[in-house]
Amino acid sequence: ARRTIEKGRALHKRTAELFFQCLREDSRGLQGRDYLHRRGVSDSVAVAFGLGFAPQQWDFLTERLLREGYSTEELEQFGLALRRAGGEGHYDRFRNRLIFPIFDGQGRPIAFGGRVLGDEMPKYLNSPETPLYKKGQHLYGLHKAGPFIREKGMAILVEGYMDVITCHQHGVTQAVATLGTALTIEQGRLLLRYGSSVLICYDGDRAGTAATIKAGRILTELGAKVKVLHLQEAKDPDEFLQSQGASKLWQAIDKAPTYIEYRYKQAHAQQNLNSVEGKVATIRELAPDLLSIPSAVEQEANVQWLAKQVGISDSSIIEELRSLSHSRP
Ligand code: GTP
Ligand code: MN
Ligand code: MN
Ligand code: MN
Ligand code: MN
Repeated sequence: ARRTIEKGRALHKRTAELFFQCLREDSRGLQGRDYLHRRGVSDSVAVAFGLGFAPQQWDFLTERLLREGYSTEELEQFGLALRRAGGEGHYDRFRNRLIFPIFDGQGRPIAFGGRVLGDEMPKYLNSPETPLYKKGQHLYGLHKAGPFIREKGMAILVEGYMDVITCHQHGVTQAVATLGTALTIEQGRLLLRYGSSVLICYDGDRAGTAATIKAGRILTELGAKVKVLHLQEAKDPDEFLQSQGASKLWQAIDKAPTYIEYRYKQAHAQQNLNSVEGKVATIRELAPDLLSIPSAVEQEANVQWLAKQVGISDSSIIEELRSLSHSRP
């Protein structure tokens, strides 16, 4: 098993180099360079994140790596090559895509993501789970962002590759991404080793909002101080930075509500708080969030705050929470 891991590391290191060289200096990488330029990604950040390009070719990687002594079994095991349907031979998984290496905590490549340059589907293709890479255990960009999160005490959690890269380019260096999937408890724990507060800044669409609620609850449960920045002026942090710049983003970050305040605002927009039903619905909506706060003192402070907003007593909220927590499976 140990040998497998070591072989996998060497294989990923070499693969990252080949994709990187293709993007930087190969004529086949020209489209990738143009694409990054169009999206406003600077050379220095592209290099810092080891971005590469997989040309439109069935065997760019496979041919080269077999020549260098890797086996088709190894390429297949680490998700870099796929077996042909007939059973004979292998072909590259990543073709005609901009390549984002995914690094472990020590900055070693352990997986890859590839983006199409146009609007073909799927937009992104990722390495499968392998002996080196377990999706829910890593955060994209953490090897770079870690020291900055420590220094500033706050992490910024975004959705995607491009969000992290544009954030770093604009000096928002504590950004890390879950890569489109829901934050796992393991990822939450990993993040909280670097700092106790997290600002969630997912995409402003429905999927982003749903993921914000889930991530907020997990982080709260883990004892984090959580804030939420819901972007209105742009689809995601990448577009926000490209159109409004970093100082606008920092201004919005400074004004970002706490997770509970954000959840209250959402409920408030849906419920009529002048009616009893509206008050009950709001409290029920926020109950799972309030119940997830591990510190009794903080939970009480939030209950008091909510009571004041809704215009009822603390004790009736506590009563409601008690009955809800008992009816929970
Ligand atoms: P751009 O369009 O390049 O700006 O990407 P984005 O990050 O804004 O994309 P989106 O908000 O749609 O998705 C967020 C993240 O989810 C991406 O960065 C990917 O990590 C992941 N993702 C998006 N689409 C796909 C897909 O089709 N397949 C897989 N495996 N992951 C995806
Ligand atoms: Mn999205
Ligand atoms: Mn985007
Ligand atoms: Mn997005
Ligand atoms: Mn810019």
